[in-house]
Amino acid sequence: MTPRRVIIDCDPGVDDAIALLLAFASPEIRVEAITTVIGNVPLARTTANARRVCDLAGRGDIPIHAGCARPIMAPTDRGSSVHGGDGLGDIGLPEAAGPPEPGHAVDVLIDRLRAAPGEITLCPLGPLTNIALALVKAPDIAPLIKEIVFMGGAAFVPGNTTPAAEFNLAIDPHAAQIVLTAGAPLTMFGLDVTRKALIAEDWMARVEAERGPRARAAIAMIRSYGRKDACLHDPCVIAHLLDPSLFEGVAARVSVECESPLTRGQTIAAVSERHRGGLPATCQVITGLAHDRLFTLLAERIARLD
Ligand code: RIB
Ligand code: CA
Repeated sequence: MTPRRVIIDCDPGVDDAIALLLAFASPEIRVEAITTVIGNVPLARTTANARRVCDLAGRGDIPIHAGCARPIMAPTDRGSSVHGGDGLGDIGLPEAAGPPEPGHAVDVLIDRLRAAPGEITLCPLGPLTNIALALVKAPDIAPLIKEIVFMGGAAFVPGNTTPAAEFNLAIDPHAAQIVLTAGAPLTMFGLDVTRKALIAEDWMARVEAERGPRARAAIAMIRSYGRKDACLHDPCVIAHLLDPSLFEGVAARVSVECESPLTRGQTIAAVSERHRGGLPATCQVITGLAHDRLFTLLAERIARLD
C-alpha cells in the first residue's frame, strides 16, 4: 500500500493535535511536512504546539514550518478559548524542544508541490491564509495539488464564531475565497459534519483506561477541550483519508462572503443546477458521518501511539 502523501496546515489547537496524532498513528498516511498558521492561538504558539505534539508522538523527524501570523486583509486578535491558555488544553505537555525549520510555510508549500506534481494532498485545519498566499505567489501550483481536504465553513448550518461563519473562515474569508476558486479538487469538512463528531464521556474513559501515556495525553487534551467544544472537528479530515466510507456529502459550488460585516466568512453552497447558474460544482461538501465507526477508528489509532 502506498501511503497518501500529505501536508497538514494547522493552528494547534487541541483538535488539530488529535488530527496530527491520528495521522502519525496511521501508516496509510505519510506526513511530509507540517505548516502552521495563526488561528486558535497566535502563530508562535501554534508553531510551538505543533512541535510539542510531534515530540509527544516521537515524530521529531517531521519538518515544521511557520507560516502567516495574520490574515490577508487585517491582523486579528480573535483566538479561541476552548483550547486552554497554551492552546493544547493546559495539560502540562513539555514545551517545544526546538524552533521550527527554516523556510516560510508559503514557500515550502510551493516548493514541495512543484517537486511532487499531483502527489500531495493538502489538509488545512485552520485559517487558509498559507494556502491562499501560496496560490497567489505561485498560481502554477493549483493543478499540482492532488486534493485539498479542509476543515472549515458551514454550508447549511449556522456558524460557531458568528451566526453565519465558522472560525477558520471567519478569521480569513479572503484566503478561503482564493482557495475555493483556485480550481484544485476540494473536499470541505464544515460544521455540517464536524458538529456530529461529538465526544462521548464513555469513549474517553474507555480509551484512557486501556492505553499508554501518549494515548492518555491525547484523551487529557480532549477532556480539557471537550468541556467547551464537545466535537472533534479537525480529526474528521484525517479520518476521511483513512476511510472515506465514514462520511457522505454533496457536490456544490462554494463561495465565501468577504465584505458584509454581518456575514463575513459565511460559506454559500450552491447545489442545484439553477443555484449554480449552470456552472460546475467545485467542492464535495461533507454533511454526514458514521459516529460510532469514526470513534472506533480514532480509539484504535490512538492506541497505536504507545
Ligand atoms: O471551527 C473549528 C475550527 O476552528 C477547528 O479547526 C479549530 O481547531 C479551529 O481552528
Ligand atoms: Ca484547527
